[in-house]
Amino acid sequence: MQVVLDYLRQHSSAYVEELCEYLRFPSISAQPDKSPEMRQCASWLQKRFEKAGLQAKLMETGGCPVVLAKTPRSGKARPHYLVYGHYDVQPPEPFELWKTPPFAPRLEGRNLFARGASDNKGQHLAHLYAVEAYLKTGTDLPCDLTFLIEGEEEVGSKNLAKFLKQNRAILKGEGVVISDTGMPSLKQPALTCGLRGIAAFEVKVHGPNRDLHSGIFGGTVDNPAFVLSQILATLRDKKGRIAIPGFYDDVQPLTASERKEIAKLKLDPVKYRNFLGVQELFGEKGYTLVEQRSARPTLEINGLTSGYQGAGSKTIIPAWASAKITCRLVPNQDPARIGKLVAAYLKCLCPATCRIEVEVGHAGEPYYVSPENPKARAGINALRRAFKAEPIMMREGGSIPIVNDFRKILGVDTLLLGLALPDDNAHSPNEKFNLDSFEKGMAMAVFLWQELAAIGSSSKIK
Ligand code: BES
Ligand code: ZN
Repeated sequence: MQVVLDYLRQHSSAYVEELCEYLRFPSISAQPDKSPEMRQCASWLQKRFEKAGLQAKLMETGGCPVVLAKTPRSGKARPHYLVYGHYDVQPPEPFELWKTPPFAPRLEGRNLFARGASDNKGQHLAHLYAVEAYLKTGTDLPCDLTFLIEGEEEVGSKNLAKFLKQNRAILKGEGVVISDTGMPSLKQPALTCGLRGIAAFEVKVHGPNRDLHSGIFGGTVDNPAFVLSQILATLRDKKGRIAIPGFYDDVQPLTASERKEIAKLKLDPVKYRNFLGVQELFGEKGYTLVEQRSARPTLEINGLTSGYQGAGSKTIIPAWASAKITCRLVPNQDPARIGKLVAAYLKCLCPATCRIEVEVGHAGEPYYVSPENPKARAGINALRRAFKAEPIMMREGGSIPIVNDFRKILGVDTLLLGLALPDDNAHSPNEKFNLDSFEKGMAMAVFLWQELAAIGSSSKIK
């Protein structure tokens, strides 16, 4: 085992260089004009897997291709695991807030800044390198692995479920491993046992058939920016509750023991406030900070557009106003039901002076897996050995839509062993990945296959 860890240490600066190379691809799945860059990025990764000694191919999904790579099979009966990640990244805008350009990686101390560094390129490369170290040192890799790295996670993985169904035979195994979540600090690595689900919407309110002079017509015709603002303002009350009838109907109340478990993760509200640059926090009354951000449902406006956005003033009544909205969901909320409910409610709030269109977008179910099982313990052991600190188990507020499909289509659960730190700026300007997290993550990935092999091909993670 030492030889594998030594190999990683010897190659650590080469791996950082390579991560930089990978980060130079602007693989932004949300922007259709980036389709060529998506493919270039995917083929870079495929070649990198081949260089590591895996058999790798690009596979079509109807959207951005999937990179599928398998370790050489020994022919011996050993547990087979899927390692999932995503090479797509969130849009980097607003560019002006980046200290250096998002696709020109910059190292400052132990932090590597670039869009996608933490979410998720750095995290799955750590797994690739761990496996390379096994293969190049001729050390027996105790599990058979298939890497599935997709290009549409940040837009809801809409083509991946079909891909899983079509390729069930080669993907099925003992379970899935994902490093695409977070940990409170390098001194507190974490196994994530819950993720929130998601339901996305785009709303557009139409007013007059063109932008109008607000002096000539103002006072006689409704303003879609007002109408949309008024609609949106009614969606949440002062206590932070979502005011859509039926929104909480299926929410499984937190039990006393769940709340106790959640309370083990300590967050200092003052530090949290200062970190985010807000005077006061805002969240649903009656729940703690950690509960609010991981175990309670929300509705957020992600984008709001209307009228003139250029320099100076322009006196118009805009022809339309639009908003991008997402709800985060918890067990047992159903994204399809929430989609219908929210869309119908938005429509009924629109006055006759305007016309509203609601488009229901991508969706993902909430995920929860009990951390009381041998595979979770194997994950905890790997984290402990690599980070030399006692790991915690936690629920998180983000979503990885495909994890429920792994359960439904492949019949397996997922071990979420995240390497992101709270100040990594995922989805924000100046995203970064910490190199200590990168290196400890590689070590964790080395130990993990040993730990998982030691429990054998037992029951599924359930
Ligand atoms: N890595 C995140 C998911 C995540 C982040 C889970 C932090 C737990 C903690 C992932 O890349 C992500 O951002 N997912 C999207 C999914 C959405 C676009 C369907 C999300 O959560 O917004
Ligand atoms: Zn993300």
